[in-house]
Formats: sequence, structure tokens, C-alpha cells
Amino acid sequence: MFRSGIALLIAAAIAGLGACAAETAGAEGKKLFNKRCGNCHKVGDVGQGLKGLTAEERTRHLDRFLAVHHAPDATERAAIIAYMNERLDR
Ligand code: HEC
Repeated sequence: MFRSGIALLIAAAIAGLGACAAETAGAEGKKLFNKRCGNCHKVGDVGQGLKGLTAEERTRHLDRFLAVHHAPDATERAAIIAYMNERLDR
């Protein structure tokens, strides 16, 4: 009884962390975009040619392109792409 209560609490905490990470991904991407890309691009202007693609196609394209275009770190790149996708889908 006591044990399963603890397990539930831990599971809830992990689920909470997951939701939190998803919510902050956009904010993190925005920060990284401003830092890595902001000198040369504005988020409202860059990637307009990718608007017709699905988010999945865009992600595949940007992941390959940005690896050699100012975002070599895979984690940072993913956050930047998430932020760009969010904006391009508006
Ligand atoms: C030192 C300046 C510079 C930085 C920093 C930079 N870019 Fe670029 N980028 C360019 C130039 C120059 C081009 C080619 C000309 C164009 O299409 O605007 C380009 C092209 C692009 C393109 C294709 C053209 C378009 O408008 O769709 C994308 C997408 C892009 N950059 C995204 C990024 C992202 C995301 C970052 C940050 C990780 C970044 N760039 C950082 C200068 C830069």
C-alpha cells in the first residue's frame, strides 16, 4: 500500500516534468534562436519558403541544413527547430 503510493507519486512527478519540458521548449528555442541566428535573421522572415511543408518535412530539412549552418549542437538545433515550426505553423 505504502510502496504503491510512493510509486504513484514518483510517476506523477515524472509526468509533470515531461509536461513542463514541452512547455519550455519553445521559450528555450526562442532564446537560442536569438543567440545563434538573431544577428542575421528574424524569426518572422527566415524559412518562409518552408511554410508549404509539413512540420515533419521541415524538421527533416532544417535538421540537416542547420547542422552545417550555425547550430551544430543537436539539442540546441532541436529546440530552435521546434521554435521555428511553432512560428511557421501560425
Ligand atoms: C552570420 C549570419 C547568419 C547566421 C548567424 C545564421 N544565418 Fe541563416 N542564413 C544566412 C545567409 C547569408 C543565408 C542565405 C541567404 C538567405 O537566404 O537569406 C541564410 C539562409 C538561411 C535559411 C534558408 C533561407 C530561408 O530564408 O529560408 C534558413 C532557414 C536559415 N538561414 C536559418 C538559420 C538559423 C535557424 C540560424 C541559427 C541557428 C541561422 N540561420 C544563422 C546567414 C546567417
